[in-house]
Amino acid sequence: MKQFKFFRLYNILFFTLISSVVHAENRDISPSFNINKVIIPSAGLGTRCLPWTKSIPKEMLPIGNMPAFQFIAKEVLNSGVYNIIVIANDNKQAISHYFSHQANFENILYERGKEHLIVDVNKIIDALQFSYIPQPELLGTGHAILMAQDAIGYEYFCVMFPDEVFFTRPALGQLIAIAKKYRASVIAVREVPMEHVSRYGVITIQTELEENVFEISDIVEKPTIEKAPSNLATCGRYVFSPTMFTALKLIGPGYGGEIQYTDGVRKLIEMGERVIAVNLVGEQPHDIGNTLGWLGANITYAMQHPVYSSPIRELCAGLLTE
Ligand code: UTP
Repeated sequence: MKQFKFFRLYNILFFTLISSVVHAENRDISPSFNINKVIIPSAGLGTRCLPWTKSIPKEMLPIGNMPAFQFIAKEVLNSGVYNIIVIANDNKQAISHYFSHQANFENILYERGKEHLIVDVNKIIDALQFSYIPQPELLGTGHAILMAQDAIGYEYFCVMFPDEVFFTRPALGQLIAIAKKYRASVIAVREVPMEHVSRYGVITIQTELEENVFEISDIVEKPTIEKAPSNLATCGRYVFSPTMFTALKLIGPGYGGEIQYTDGVRKLIEMGERVIAVNLVGEQPHDIGNTLGWLGANITYAMQHPVYSSPIRELCAGLLTE
C-alpha cells in the first residue's frame, strides 16, 4: 500500500513537472483547432447486452438494417471530421471487417445487380480514414482515450461513445462549432429525469454563456440523487483539449475502480482549462448499451422511417388493442 502511495505521488510529481515544461515550451503555441480526429472507445465487454455481445460487438447491433456504428460514422462524416480512431481489441474485428472493402463479396453483388445495397457503407469507407488501436487492459473509458495520445498529437480532438446514437442533426458538429468559438473543451449534455442521474456523468454549471451553453465547474460520475449537482447528464459526445491526456495521467482509478474520463475532465478544470457544456435541446440520444435502450432505438427508428413507419405503427396499434 505504502509502495502504491509512493508510486502515485511520484507519478503526480512527474506528470506535473512534464506538464509545466510542456506548457512553458508551448507558452506561445496554442494547440491546433483543426479538429479532424475522433476517438471512438469500443473495447468494452458490453456486459449489459449479454449474451448477444459474447460474439457480436454491441457497436454492431443493428438499428433497422444498419449497425449502430454506421450511424456514428455518418455523424462523424456530417460533422466534417475524417479520421476515426477506434479503440478495440481482437473481439471487435466485426467493426474493421464491416468498414473495409470486401472485393469478392462486392463482385458477387455487382454480378447480381445488388451493389446498390451497400452503397451507403461504401461511401463511408471511401470518405473516412479508419485506424484501430488496442486497449490491452480494460481499465476504463479514460484509459481507452489515453491509448490514442500518440495518434492525436498537440491538437483538439473529439471523443464519441458509440453506444449513444443520435438520429437527428450531427451532434458532434455542434460541439466542434462551440469549441472553436470559445477555444475550449466542450461536452454534450441533455436533461434527464432526476431519478436517472445515477446512470450518468452529471455537470455543475458555473455560468450560462448563452442559451443552452454553460461554463462548468465540475462533473461527477454516476452521483446519487442527493449528491447530483444538476440533472444535466453527458451523452457521449466531446471535444477535448490535448491537455486532457496530461489530466488523465494524473488521475487514479475512480468509480468502479476504473480510470474514468469524467475524473479527467474534473482534473482538466483543476488545471485551469475551460470546459463548456452544450445542452442538446430536442435531440434525444438512444443508449443502445442496454437491451431496453436498444429495443427503444429500433422502435423509434422504425416509426420515423419512410418505408417502415406505416406498417410498424399498424403492427403496434394491433398489439395494443389485443
Ligand atoms: P460502457 O461502460 O458503456 O461500455 O463504456 P461497456 O463496458 O462495454 O459496457 P457494460 O457496462 O459492460 O455493459 C462506454 C464506451 O467505452 C468503451 C466501451 O466499449 C463503450 O463503447 N470502453 C469502456 C472502452 O473502450 N474501454 C474500457 O476500458 C471501458
